[in-house]
Amino acid sequence: MQFVFEGTHEYRPLRFIEGPLSRFDGITMLVGYGDKKNLTRRKLIPTLRKALQFARNNEAKAISIDFKELRAMSPKAVSDTDLAQLCAEAFVMANYEYTAHKTAPKNGFKSIDIVEVRNTTPAIKSAFEKGRMVGEAVNACREWANTPGGDMTPELLAEAAVKAAEGTPARVKVLGVSEMATLGMGSILGVAKGSSEAPAFIVVEYWGTDRSKKPTVLVGKGVTFDTGGLNIKTGDGMYEMHMDMSGGAAVIQAAILAARLRLKKNVVALVPAVENASASNALRPGDILKSMSGKTIEILNTDAEGRVILADALTYAKKYNPASVIDVATLTGASLIALGTVASAFMTNKESLIAPLMEVAEESGDYMWPLPLWEEYNPMVKGTFGDVPNLSVMGSSRHGGVIAGGKFLEVFAKELECPWVHIDMAPRMTTTPEDCLAKGAAGNPVRFLLKYIESGVK
Ligand code: BES
Ligand code: MN
Ligand code: ZN
Repeated sequence: MQFVFEGTHEYRPLRFIEGPLSRFDGITMLVGYGDKKNLTRRKLIPTLRKALQFARNNEAKAISIDFKELRAMSPKAVSDTDLAQLCAEAFVMANYEYTAHKTAPKNGFKSIDIVEVRNTTPAIKSAFEKGRMVGEAVNACREWANTPGGDMTPELLAEAAVKAAEGTPARVKVLGVSEMATLGMGSILGVAKGSSEAPAFIVVEYWGTDRSKKPTVLVGKGVTFDTGGLNIKTGDGMYEMHMDMSGGAAVIQAAILAARLRLKKNVVALVPAVENASASNALRPGDILKSMSGKTIEILNTDAEGRVILADALTYAKKYNPASVIDVATLTGASLIALGTVASAFMTNKESLIAPLMEVAEESGDYMWPLPLWEEYNPMVKGTFGDVPNLSVMGSSRHGGVIAGGKFLEVFAKELECPWVHIDMAPRMTTTPEDCLAKGAAGNPVRFLLKYIESGVK
């Protein structure tokens, strides 16, 4: 999708009107945005997406909007540039659909190729352009996550990362099995061993400012398919588990986006990529792995694999002497039980970060809600035959499942000696009808990560 500003006005006009109904009179598309007084900044996002989908469904290819009209319907507290970026993000995200394996209809897939925006200023134009870039990064993340597990193996994800960084100042490095073995990454190799697909450890570095400035390190879960391992998932539970690399895809795309935007920040993304397969040589419950940190991990359930591979990635992060570390993972089904599909859960070792992080999340549209990591929960991660169990041993393993994931990672994050945030994004792995986006991967939390990097919150 392309935004143009000096239009010839031959595109199909899209206008916003108060009230519930939308209609197309053959010339103009009139999109109802409901009651103006209810149109909060939050509501604006799905409303704009719906408007674009309305245009798409009416087979439009090029549309024209008036920024003044958009301005008039939006809350005053939303600045011009904020509104422009928000609008571009919403339009680009709503224009995306996963079609790689679908036969194209006669007239091609529905898509808006050009959006003309009238009544702008230079600042508004560049905000549209930035929003477009953010939206494209979100869609690229969705494309990777939507790709079936057989077509997005650890090595293919690594290749995709290399390709995505081409032409940007970001650099990608991929560690293979032998390098991981040399580093002692027993956790990643342990989870990977039941799969015929070799694991990969993907490193994206973007040095946008003085190298002496500590980088923000992003860590993402890259399970390209999660069968559960020997603790195999049921049919329903295994559906969509090709998206279990969504966190990894998000951190790679966020780092490359920071590079593309030439932000004056240092950003590193680390992704342990593995397939969690079931086989006679797979990891067994009861097996004990030696992690890169030196700590041993007692495998009580092979389906709690995300935290195990992230342990080594957090230890690897230490090499960078980070300013802060954020890990992003589709870690637990329990997070969906807790929050439904509206927000990701997050936990941090620095409580004063909670409010500013929620603020960044709110602004980005990738909503997040906090959970505690109190020391009263420490018994969850007390090992019996190893140092740390990968399943909570405090009462029932089903109690506080989200926190148990956070507490496990906290053990490895302790060595970092910097602020650390864990985002359990399982609730936001896929879109819901309320998102007004195509079915499949949601591309969370790319927008949040970018805003976090820009914000300087730490
Ligand atoms: N990838 C899953 C979590 C998941 C479930 C993400 C549904 C998105 C949607 C994760 O590896 C997993 O299997 N977690 C287990 C943990 C349990 C064994 C402690 C779970 O949630 O059941
Ligand atoms: Mn699992
Ligand atoms: Zn998983």
